[in-house]
This record gives sequence, C-alpha cells and structure tokens, in this order.
Amino acid sequence: MEKILIIDDDKLTLKVIDDILQRLGYQTFNAESGEAGLKLIPSIKPDLVITDFQMPGMDGIGVLSEIITMNTGIPVIMLTGYGDVALTIKSIQAGAFDYLEKPIDPLQLKNAVHLAIHSVKISRGLNRVKFESSSRETMLDNNVLIGKTPAMKEIFKNIGRISMNKVNVLIKGESGTGKELIARLIHSSGVTSDQPMVTINCSALSESLLESEFFGHLKGSHPGALHDKQGKFELAGEGSIFLDEISELSLNTQIKLLRVIQEQKFERVGGDKTIPMRARIITATNKNLEALVREGKFREELYLRLKVFTIDLPPLRERKDDIRDLVVFFLFKLNRRFNRNVVKIGDGVIDLLKSQRWTGNVRELENTILQAIVMSKNDVLEIDNIILNPTPSETAVVVPEFFRFRTIAELEKYHIQRILDETKWNKLEASRILDITRPTLNAKIEKYSLRRP
Ligand SMILES: Nc1ncnc2c1ncn2[C@@H]1O[C@H](COP(=O)(O)OP(=O)(O)OP(=O)(O)O)[C@@H](O)[C@H]1O
Ligand SMILES: [Mg+2]
Repeated sequence: MEKILIIDDDKLTLKVIDDILQRLGYQTFNAESGEAGLKLIPSIKPDLVITDFQMPGMDGIGVLSEIITMNTGIPVIMLTGYGDVALTIKSIQAGAFDYLEKPIDPLQLKNAVHLAIHSVKISRGLNRVKFESSSRETMLDNNVLIGKTPAMKEIFKNIGRISMNKVNVLIKGESGTGKELIARLIHSSGVTSDQPMVTINCSALSESLLESEFFGHLKGSHPGALHDKQGKFELAGEGSIFLDEISELSLNTQIKLLRVIQEQKFERVGGDKTIPMRARIITATNKNLEALVREGKFREELYLRLKVFTIDLPPLRERKDDIRDLVVFFLFKLNRRFNRNVVKIGDGVIDLLKSQRWTGNVRELENTILQAIVMSKNDVLEIDNIILNPTPSETAVVVPEFFRFRTIAELEKYHIQRILDETKWNKLEASRILDITRPTLNAKIEKYSLRRP
C-alpha cells in the first residue's frame, strides 16, 4: 500500500484530504507543521508528500527544498490558494511535482496523487538519461509532459505500461503535439534508459545516405564513404531508435528496415559482419499511415511491426483544459531561459487562448507565450502582448445554411429584397447601398417580381 504524508496547519483541510485518500486505499500520515512533517519522513518513507504552501514557521517551499536535499526522489504536491499563479510557478520552479488549488477537488486530488505516484518511475528514469546538450535544468524542462485531461492521463498510463517491455511504439499526432517529447519519455522511463537513444529524421536524407545512417558503412562502399562508419542502429545498442516522420521512408528503405526487424540483425553497407539488432524502435508520424498502406505507399508488414503499441496524441484543440497548465509551465520554463520574471497571467488571457484552433498545437502555443514574454514590460502576461496567428477557418466568413448551394440569381433576389425592406422601399437609398442605378434597380424588381410587404 502506498504511503502518503499530508502536511497542513489547517486541521480541516488535513482531515478532508486524509479521508479522501484513505477511501482510495492509501495509507496516510498527518503533520500540522513543516518541521513535524520532515521529522516523520525517515521513519515513514512516504511515496508522496502533499504539503500546504502557506504555513506558520516553515512554508511549503521550505518543506519541498528539504525533501529535495534528502535526495529520496519523493514527489511533492503543493497546495496553493485558488488562482495564485505566482505561487504555483514558484512551487514548480522549486521542484514540486504538481500543485492543487484549494478548495480541494476530490477528483483532481485523486488524479494528481495517482499521477505523482505513477510517474516517479518515469522521472527517476529521466535523471539517468544522458542527453548530448546543456544543463540538467534544460534537460528536465524539455522532458516534462504537461496534461491533466483524460486523454493525456491515458497517455501517461500508457507510457508506464510500455516501459516494462520493449515493444515497438508508433506515435501518431498532428505537428507540434509532442511526439518527440513522448518518444524521449518512453525511452527514459523504459528498462534500458541507461542505453542510448538515437534519432533519425526519415525525411532529411536521401535514400542512399539514409541506409548508411541506419546501418553504417565500410570505407569505399560508396563515393561518400571515406571511413568506416557506425550506423545509428549500432549506436543505439539495446536502447531506442527514434524514427521521426516514418511515412517519408522510400519503399526500398522500408523493405530493408522490415528485413532487419524480422531477422533482428543487419550488416553495415559494404560489410558482411552481422550485427545483432536489440533496440526498441519508436516511430512518429503526422500522416495517416493506414491510408498510405491502402494506397500502396507504405508496406503493410512494416506498419504492423512498428505499431505493436500505438499512442494517439490528440490535437491541442481537443484538450483545451490543459492550456492553463501549459501556459504556467511555459512561463516557468521560458522565464528561466530568457531571464525574465513574468509570473502573473492577465485577465482574459486563458479564455482567449482557449478560443483558438492551434493548428500548430503545443509548439504554436509555446511560441505565442515566448513572443508575449519578450514583449512584456512587467511581470504580467498581458492580453495585448498575445499575438495570434489567424487560421483560415477563423478568418473565413461563416456561411449561413440558407446560402449554401444557391444560384447567384437566387442570392441577388434575396439580397435586393432585404435591402428594400430595410430601407422601407426607399429606392434612392436602396440603389445607393446596392451601388446600382435606379433604372437598374427597377429592372431587377421587375425581373424578380419583388413586392412591397
Ligand atoms: N504536453 C506537453 N507538455 C509540455 N511541453 C510540451 C507538451 N507537448 C509538446 N510540448 C513542447 O512543444 C514543443 C513541440 O513538441 P514536439 O517537438 O515533441 O512535437 P512533435 O509532435 O514532434 O512536432 P512535429 O510533428 O512538428 O515534429 C516542444 O518544445 C515540446 O517540449
Ligand atoms: Mg517532431
């Protein structure tokens, strides 16, 4: 049974949370101050700590930083006042796993607790992954998956499920939905996260170069092969190979890849030494692969081998309730990167963002927030600084049902009748509005047999 330590100076809140968690089958422990809570940790060894932010004596951030110093990897959920974005950002900045706003919503509490306990494995995995670039902080920022909507929670669970066995995974989703991020999380939460993850963008290279890139080559095997070269499949070892934009593979390369997957071995181009293939293959696409299979552009056998497990990332417009959390997260991440301190969200900003279609999905939202941060003159994310991309569907006039499938004559008749009615049959005014002469207007009235009501 998982153990949860709850710290809050307010007895009523303590009791409410305690009751909910006990009913859910967790073993709970209570403390009425930060200091008291911290003392309990070594003996209880909780799987999760939930702490209030504002307490006399040591506050939530104090508790959080002590727990982080202990280096136990225990996730912390912070309780904050409703709508207090600054505290929320501060908490997450300080390393809280999540935050919950008071008054506590039982369902949210349940989800957050479940997610926190479930994700520890994922985040522990993360810390061990070796990434080529930059600091630990940037690495963490780029590997946080935000999402509390049902669809995203399902994805969290699936990442957990896949982590146990090394099945191949196909990630589907529109551009900017987070496919690459998910691929990294699958790798880093998996059993071989200490092994490398290599990425190949299938649209970036020509067919012959791609084969070298996949399997490596021997010196002289083709004009560009000046030295022996290890391919990405070899470099991946027992880790993961991420094939991005898999739909762009030529049919020829598809056949070669299929053979390697079937035989679990390959050779460098121009070589005859057999190299075993043990890596997990993660693929991503923003195309409809089934359709490509039907059209004969993608090999069905390969498709079946790649989609042993499929993750369908919904577009952002289908999970708008994640927008607020994403904005908070991007503020936190981008403030740090650009050394800014925008910690408040202006009135109407979230509603405005929720009203958009986001054809570029999470990436477009992130860029919009970045632009707004750059333009902001104080610590508020102002509505005026939010510049939205018009998308065709928004700028296009909505066509009322009446106008669909009508002839021009029908529309002309309808329009002239309306203008005449609105001007109370003042023909001078009507002809001015319609920008036609009076004789023309008279002719049209005749032609369409328009009548005064
Ligand atoms: N749920 C999320 N939480 C936090 N950040 C996210 C989330 N989804 C996407 N991002 C961020 O949005 C950006 C785009 O994500 P990513 O590159 O993974 O998308 P993609 O689906 O691979 O896009 P494309 O099809 O254009 O290659 C990245 O900066 C990523 O970290
Ligand atoms: Mg991508």
